[in-house]
Amino acid sequence: MSTSPLRFSSEFFFGSAISAYQAEGETGTRHGDWDEYLARRKYQIIRPGEIGPQWWKKGEAERDLKTMANLNLTMQRIGIEWARIEPDEGIINQEALARYREILDEMKRLGISPMLTLSHYVLPDWVAKQGGWLNGKTVQSFLRFVRIVLAEFPETTYWLIVNEPAVLLTAGFVLGYFPPFGRNMFSYFRARRNLMKAMTEGYALIKSVNTTSQVGNAFSFAWMRPHAHDSWLELALTGATNYLLNTNYIDTTHTAMDFLGVNFYTGYYIEFHPGKLGFSVQKDASVMRASLPLSIAIRPPAYRSDWSWPIVPDFFLHLLKTMQNRYNKPIFVTENGIADREDTYRSFYILTHLTAMWRAIELGVDIRGYLYWSSIDNLEWNEGYQKRFGLIALNHFTGARTVRKSAKMLAEIAKNKRIDLEDLIPRYIPTAQQETAYRITDQLLHDPRKHHARCTYR
Ligand code: BGC
Repeated sequence: MSTSPLRFSSEFFFGSAISAYQAEGETGTRHGDWDEYLARRKYQIIRPGEIGPQWWKKGEAERDLKTMANLNLTMQRIGIEWARIEPDEGIINQEALARYREILDEMKRLGISPMLTLSHYVLPDWVAKQGGWLNGKTVQSFLRFVRIVLAEFPETTYWLIVNEPAVLLTAGFVLGYFPPFGRNMFSYFRARRNLMKAMTEGYALIKSVNTTSQVGNAFSFAWMRPHAHDSWLELALTGATNYLLNTNYIDTTHTAMDFLGVNFYTGYYIEFHPGKLGFSVQKDASVMRASLPLSIAIRPPAYRSDWSWPIVPDFFLHLLKTMQNRYNKPIFVTENGIADREDTYRSFYILTHLTAMWRAIELGVDIRGYLYWSSIDNLEWNEGYQKRFGLIALNHFTGARTVRKSAKMLAEIAKNKRIDLEDLIPRYIPTAQQETAYRITDQLLHDPRKHHARCTYR
């Protein structure tokens, strides 16, 4: 079937994203809770000799930003690390501010608009020792840090106050996976209240200092859909799960945001098999199934990332439409990407997700930009350097860089502000995936309003 090229407006931003902690390396001048944790687990997460993109070293961030500009990307999300700016309470590291200034100046020179993230999981160690987000005082300390950053970089338009409150709060206070490794719901609710306060007060502060700024937060979405359209049980459970995992954080803060940052990687179907008893989790190439008394099956029929996350661009389209209907705000896709060391599925992933996004725009969703995660392979938190999301592949021992083929496809789309599927699929998608790519993009482009597109892989 022939499709005419999908066009984006000339103001649309194509860009990439990274966080300060994951990109910078060099721990000498940074005292964060994650530094303390990684030092404690020496060689268990980062192996001997491994290095990241080392953006704190003069020249390293600059060379990767130059690559982003060569890939025709016009927006870059970076972070400003509180643990670096204020390594000890009340002590402001001027050299750190100067390094961020260099990076931002370079972006300006290259014609790249910055989007600055102020909180991406990490806290200064002194804040963590005072109780971190469990302590109400942290809100005031954080706002003081925001004031310093605002005074230093007043020309910045796009701001993200907090990255992924859901991940920070569940991994940090319920699952015990991120610092401070809590596992209790009372702490979760206390930390949640303070974090939400930092988000709403941070918004008021940035807007009062910089009236032309555009301020948002980036929300993670493990997005759920009901497997059967007509099962009210599945619909109800899906609604409840999406509320608990995803939208409750936005419901609390959306009035203090100019735009919504959407971080999307994957999603799951929710299925009921009434009658089954017992609990089991099966995980194989196509099905992850948890059988509770009411049997909930989570079925992702898809290609998968190196992390086994199913590639489900139809969920992305569904999510974008839902966000528009629910909050009616401009959207930036602040993260979308795949861990794929060999670049096997990345072109497929980017192309199908951009097609889904284009269709969402066509259906009236107000999307202003798309930032691929990530600019370059980087430190994937507890996974160390094992998960490779980058447009640029990084050799973690030598620091050598190679631009992945999929990045070149994104560069063509960004340059032309246009997706020509019939031209790109044969040139960028591996032969074995081409038929699926045609079928899925076609399904996305004909998304019916009522039951929403479904990707079929076979
Ligand atoms: C986070 C990133 C992380 C990425 C991939 C997002 O949840 O904001 O820091 O690297 O997902 O896991």
